[in-house]
Amino acid sequence: MPFLSETLSRVKPSPTIAVTNKARELKAAGKDVIGLGAGEPDFDTPEHIKAAGIRAIEEGKTKYTAVDGIPELKEAICAKFKRDNGLDYVPAQVSVSGGGKQVLYNALVATLNPGDEVIIPAPYWVSYPDMVLLAGGVPVAIEGKLDHDFKITAAQLEAAITPKTKWLIFNSPSNPTGAGYSKTELKALTDVLMRHPHVWVMSDDMYEHLAFDGFEFCTPAEIEPGLYERTLTVNGVSKAYCMTGWRIGYAAGPVKLINAMRKVQSQSTSNPCSISQYAAVEALNGSHEFITSNNEAFVRRRNMVVDMLNAASGITCPTPEGAFYVYPDIAGCLNKTSAGGAKITNDEEFATALLEETGVAVVFGAAFGLSPNFRVSYATSDAALKEACTRIQNFCAGLS
Ligand SMILES: Cc1ncc(COP(=O)(O)O)c(C=O)c1O
Repeated sequence: MPFLSETLSRVKPSPTIAVTNKARELKAAGKDVIGLGAGEPDFDTPEHIKAAGIRAIEEGKTKYTAVDGIPELKEAICAKFKRDNGLDYVPAQVSVSGGGKQVLYNALVATLNPGDEVIIPAPYWVSYPDMVLLAGGVPVAIEGKLDHDFKITAAQLEAAITPKTKWLIFNSPSNPTGAGYSKTELKALTDVLMRHPHVWVMSDDMYEHLAFDGFEFCTPAEIEPGLYERTLTVNGVSKAYCMTGWRIGYAAGPVKLINAMRKVQSQSTSNPCSISQYAAVEALNGSHEFITSNNEAFVRRRNMVVDMLNAASGITCPTPEGAFYVYPDIAGCLNKTSAGGAKITNDEEFATALLEETGVAVVFGAAFGLSPNFRVSYATSDAALKEACTRIQNFCAGLS
């Protein structure tokens, strides 16, 4: 009898975490490494949010809480959905977990039966397919192509839906491409879903507030009120509020789904950290001014990275609407040999040689389901980004 479960054998560890760890190890060993793998802002958590966490500790708010969130946080989340998205939810429709990751996982575990299909536009956040597999479902990827800014079309969605489709996971602005769907593009997708009432939508809005150049964020339940009863709108404080380590994510949706998610959480982790929940109340209710200044830095960095990568031989890099990632295409770099003698036939070999020969750590495109590309997280200092892009340019110039 095998000791490890068959389910576990179907999933792989997160490649983004693996790249971050590898870069950390090389750095600790004294190598000159620039990590562009981590999916988290380099900015510190704002002071007023930290202060709320400290206050929670001092006031003894350090005990178990309600399994899926304290009432104050659920109220703050309802106010956020009304304020930002025009969506009406009551606290009974809200679930809070240890990060957006746990929210998504709870929802999949709570709803998937063996063989249920989940449509995932590729390139996708690395965890979606593996979470679906862990929950017993079948991930079905549809490719958003470079010439369509990595976004899927209504026709592709229509073609992917079968009687077994349970969910579409929608993510805009996207990890790994930063691409954001306009209202018109999203409406074309929701029109398809309106014709298939058995399909639910899990909208991962984690990068909502990281939207640039006037891009207007939109979410499915807002664009198509007819989907409200079968949409789980997921969000969190990790990215926009620079709170990745605090581990708070949340979602709102139909009560029967929220209750099922609570059941999963009650028998696995119980409540998310009490201190972090009080800090998240302050994040949602307090001043958001820092988001504007953080976004100015992100836009400046994005523009520099896009310009420098497009100047690298063999690379094509679109300018995305949001998040803090770019997803350059490296078709022009394949079937060549690097200055260090490595054969580059795919994006994993490109990323490995780049790390070994220049010390720049990026995540290869195959991890996100669309090749040949790599993902750059530009949530790091301007100086480090400039140096990293110069090294990438030199690496590409050395390919022959
Ligand atoms: C698209 C997307 N969804 C969800 C998450 C999970 O965020 P959290 O840190 O809140 O678990 C991430 C984090 O990288 C992400 O990129």
